[in-house]
Amino acid sequence: MTMLKVPIVNLGTTGLKVSKLGFGTFDFGEPLNISPKEGGQILIDSYQLGVNFWDTSDDYGSHPHVASALKQIPRKEVVVSTKTSAKSSKEAIKSLNNSLKELDTDYIDIFLLHYVKSDWIKGCRQVLKELDALKATRTIKAIGLSTHSVTVVREVSQFEEVDVIMTICCSASQAMINKFRDYIPLEDGSIEEMFQAIKLAHRSGKGVIAMKVLGGGVGSAAPLLGKNYRASIKSIAKLDFIDTMVIGMRNLDEVKKNLKVILSAVL
Ligand SMILES: NC(=O)c1ccc[n+]([C@@H]2O[C@H](COP(=O)([O-])OP(=O)(O)OC[C@H]3O[C@@H](n4cnc5c(N)ncnc54)[C@H](OP(=O)(O)O)[C@@H]3O)[C@@H](O)[C@H]2O)c1
Repeated sequence: MTMLKVPIVNLGTTGLKVSKLGFGTFDFGEPLNISPKEGGQILIDSYQLGVNFWDTSDDYGSHPHVASALKQIPRKEVVVSTKTSAKSSKEAIKSLNNSLKELDTDYIDIFLLHYVKSDWIKGCRQVLKELDALKATRTIKAIGLSTHSVTVVREVSQFEEVDVIMTICCSASQAMINKFRDYIPLEDGSIEEMFQAIKLAHRSGKGVIAMKVLGGGVGSAAPLLGKNYRASIKSIAKLDFIDTMVIGMRNLDEVKKNLKVILSAVL
């Protein structure tokens, strides 16, 4: 099992050290409805393989799964990100406190404003400015946002309040993106422009987390990124302007397969 240990990397300038593969817990929800106990065990087993970064959100329904796993290991062993769709600092702090309770933890490593669109850049900066103060209380270690927008990535890469950006980064061609908008919902710009924006963010010291690496799914109508998971993961793992990636996984077999690919990409 130790043979499969994934590399640990710096997440931008946050001081957080995360595995090159992060566990996206969105898939614990519907339609599989994996129980908190079962999901928690998958997270623990993935941690034993070196996956120390778990991504959740206040609307995934997977806080109980992460909480169940957190009970089984020392808290500092893993980096947990969660998100809020709040649009004001008051709402964001309410969501943060609720997430702390649901996760049954004293702190959250990475707190992200969820799915920030290009029409809310100024507003999100204001909320982040107010959340920034909470870092001094050690309730949160790093803050930032997730987005599907090239404009957002480009602009917030210049905001000192932003530590971390989670965004779309996959090997799909522009034609594929155009065809599979439901799976890879790039809000604006082209995939090439997204790569340029991410490079800028990374150069500016932001921690960059890739998502949609497998095109969001493997259903019959999905793009082929999931079916071609080896090539899809490898191409993103090789990029020096991506720190880590969160991939949605449902079982340990997928974790092992994806770890093997990451190892083959970085060795
Ligand atoms: N912040 C945001 O706006 C946002 C949005 C979406 C997602 N996320 C985060 O990112 C994570 C990933 O979600 P995503 O939408 O980007 O999806 P993704 O990681 O591109 O694709 C996830 C799907 O890939 C499949 N998969 C995983 N490993 C595989 C393998 N080895 N072979 C074949 N299929 C494999 C899984 O489906 P099967 O199990 O059916 O094979 C899973 O449903 C989420 O869990 C969440 O944490 C964030």
